[in-house]
Amino acid sequence: MILAKFIARQLRKPSGFFGKYFLTHMLNRSNKAMNDQVLHLLQVQQDDRILEIGFGGGDLLTRMAQNIGDGLITGVDFSSDVIDIGEKRFQPLLDAGKLEIHHADAGSLPFDANSFNKVCTVNTIYFWPDVEQVLQELLRVLQSKGLIIISLTTRESMNKLGEITRHGFIKYSAEDIKQWLGKVGFINVRIIFGKNNHGEFICAVGEKF
Ligand SMILES: C[S@@+](CC[C@H](N)C(=O)[O-])C[C@H]1O[C@@H](n2cnc3c(N)ncnc32)[C@H](O)[C@@H]1O
Repeated sequence: MILAKFIARQLRKPSGFFGKYFLTHMLNRSNKAMNDQVLHLLQVQQDDRILEIGFGGGDLLTRMAQNIGDGLITGVDFSSDVIDIGEKRFQPLLDAGKLEIHHADAGSLPFDANSFNKVCTVNTIYFWPDVEQVLQELLRVLQSKGLIIISLTTRESMNKLGEITRHGFIKYSAEDIKQWLGKVGFINVRIIFGKNNHGEFICAVGEKF
């Protein structure tokens, strides 16, 4: 029970030795199938300007940056330890001008309106206290015709994962996410289902009008 609470807190906001040096690697391994699916759906183009919210260990972030030409990949995370370790691990991509990382909360992004043509996030929506407000913020920073991809493990699969996800996780079904995206104003919303060792996950894809 105490261990489950500790891990749940770390998953929400990695910190300290465990969060920085262990959890970030673990996240990269255990969430690779979700990241693969998101990367496939993003179809990264040389001149894309892509924002990832809550990049954690940076598996998706760095793979996107490796595919970028004169565009830019931007990562945001609200854990100062995630930013700290990222500045060290991703230094070649940061120095090459292919990647930027920022310490910020998804609900209040330090970017002008219409800054990105794609935004994505994997395994973070469970921790947003106000989903509608974050989605509005993502809509604001996205250009017209821009793409949003939100990937998460569904409520049904989460409920089978046991103790950890009972602490601080808000769980959603595919239909919940579809409705949130539609309510905020995203169009052409569709859900793509996938499977990994945690069970079923989804990628919700939408566009800004
Ligand atoms: C469970 S980890 C997922 C990391 C990575 N996306 C993955 O799937 O492996 C959640 C990450 O989102 C970040 N995060 C959670 N809520 C956030 C928020 N409101 N704003 C910015 N980052 C957030 C955490 O610090 C953490 O790095």
